[in-house]
Amino acid sequence: STEQPFKGLKVTITAGPTREAIDPVRFISNHSSGKMGFALARAFAEQGAQVSLVAGPVNLATPQNVRRYDVESAQQMHDVTLSLAPQQDIVIGCAAVADYRMQTVAEQKLKKTDDSEQLVLTLVKNPDIIAAVAALSAQRPFVVGFAAETQAVLDYAAQKLQRKNLDMICANDVALQGQGFNSEHNALTVLWKGGQQQLPLSDKYSLSQKLAALIVQQYRASQS
Ligand code: PMT
Repeated sequence: STEQPFKGLKVTITAGPTREAIDPVRFISNHSSGKMGFALARAFAEQGAQVSLVAGPVNLATPQNVRRYDVESAQQMHDVTLSLAPQQDIVIGCAAVADYRMQTVAEQKLKKTDDSEQLVLTLVKNPDIIAAVAALSAQRPFVVGFAAETQAVLDYAAQKLQRKNLDMICANDVALQGQGFNSEHNALTVLWKGGQQQLPLSDKYSLSQKLAALIVQQYRASQS
């Protein structure tokens, strides 16, 4: 469209999974396809926003007029996102970031042993990217998280909104068939201090258009 209602807005979005190496040939990851985050990047860019997309390993084309940063691990996603964050108006965490990584990545391929039926991997916590952005004391952007939950979806989402000091959170029930991880469709309940809104099941792009409008509305309300 020729109308650019989001012109001048700087938005960074994380998307996709992260990959945590176990050894040179193996990793820990999850089922995120990146579709939700990429659809959101497209929705913002089409309305004229200046969009940076920090993407884990996914198989998707970059939406038009979006600046893309490819990363693999949570630590890399953290470093790129935190370097961008102070220049942004809005930062959105749509990525399914691995909560843990290997304490020590093996330098050589791990060998199967004959003497044990078990292999124990020791994991350590990754930094929480969206919480780190929300904790910025100077130049803190408006921060939006997602919460992928399989039970007590709204309760856990509300807890994450508070604990990570976010401005909004998109509660995503990922136990339901036909939505969430690696689906073409999704449905969200968006929560913020003082309100909530349901965005019913639809394709991820249509959903993203509604979500982007809601985020910008709340962002502008927070500025006035
Ligand atoms: O990629 P798709 O296949 O399209 O699927 C979309 C989706 C289901 C991945 C997406 O809609 C979604 O729900 N993303 C969040 C997934 C997630 O990992 O949620 P969480 O509840 O574990 O994390 C809560 C929030 O903290 C999220 O904003 C997450 O990006 C952020 N986080 C989590 C851990 C961490 N170390 N750093 C973070 O920034």
